[in-house]
Amino acid sequence: MVHGTVPLPVTGTVPVTEWPQVAACQPLRDRHDQDARTEKCHTTAKSMSDQATLWNGPSGQTWAEIQPMLDRLFAPFVDLICDAVPAHTAHNILDIGCGAGAIALALAARHPKAQVTGLDISEPLVATARQRAQALPNVNFELGDAQRHPLPPATFDTIVSRFGVMFFDDPVEAFANIHKAATPEAKLTAIAWRDPSENPFMTAAERAAGSLVPELPARRPNGPGQFGFANQDYIHSVLTQSHWHDIRITPIDVPCQLPTEDLELYYTRMGALAQILPTLENRSEVLKALDQGFQQFVQADGNAHFTAACWMIQATA
Ligand SMILES: C[S@@+](CC[C@H](N)C(=O)[O-])C[C@H]1O[C@@H](n2cnc3c(N)ncnc32)[C@H](O)[C@@H]1O
Repeated sequence: MVHGTVPLPVTGTVPVTEWPQVAACQPLRDRHDQDARTEKCHTTAKSMSDQATLWNGPSGQTWAEIQPMLDRLFAPFVDLICDAVPAHTAHNILDIGCGAGAIALALAARHPKAQVTGLDISEPLVATARQRAQALPNVNFELGDAQRHPLPPATFDTIVSRFGVMFFDDPVEAFANIHKAATPEAKLTAIAWRDPSENPFMTAAERAAGSLVPELPARRPNGPGQFGFANQDYIHSVLTQSHWHDIRITPIDVPCQLPTEDLELYYTRMGALAQILPTLENRSEVLKALDQGFQQFVQADGNAHFTAACWMIQATA
């Protein structure tokens, strides 16, 4: 079901963004150079407020509102992550960028004796996660920025994330903060998207209707956003600098599907194009192009099928 042999990602600038992304001044690899220290600090302050604003504003609100559809869309990743967490070592689990809690809740159900903590910067998403957790006594959700949230030191033996680690404007700071909260030999398992060029479903909206709308924001290599961890070498360098070892970054191709009736909800709510859609005078033309653009994924069973080209990121504290 899950397999992978994919070349290293290309990290050129693409004239659009799918999920929340801020314009980074330069790749973080450079931003961690001594020479770039001043620029890094400036970028950190600006981008941080942008990300917090996005996830506490329209993006967080959208993810909270369409959480049932997103859970269906990304359902295959639940088992993928849960299966990577060994029952005998998982006593204290941390889900980074937990969103509405799908992974934290699944792990809490699967490991009733373990304590699961979800951490997220988005108030609407943490509120949604808390609501969904009412029947589970062994899970709690904290509102905070993974880059600097005061997590209890040397506490978590298992750290997981589904698409929650690509939005830090200073990933080294975030992973160092998480490392401090990890027990010695704790295991990290995180999923991030590979390159946009390998993820045609995630970029279908911009291909179908990009020419009909005003220019969309540029996607910056290694900048915070959906594809912020597309570059394998970059991920490796971030984890090394933040004291993780035994780093394994494996390409995985995960079959996903969405009922056709969910497609419109997907392309009218997710991504940069969806955000400007309500303001467009040619909205009906754009909607028609989007509808046509997504038909290529629809199969005879009435579902849209696509492959999610991702990295499975594993490391030891
Ligand atoms: C693409 S969503 C994934 C949500 C969830 N893991 C899921 O799979 O449904 C990314 C999540 O990362 C969170 N996030 C972004 N920056 C963060 C930060 N600095 N600290 C903690 N969470 C953050 C967002 O609020 C959002 O919930």
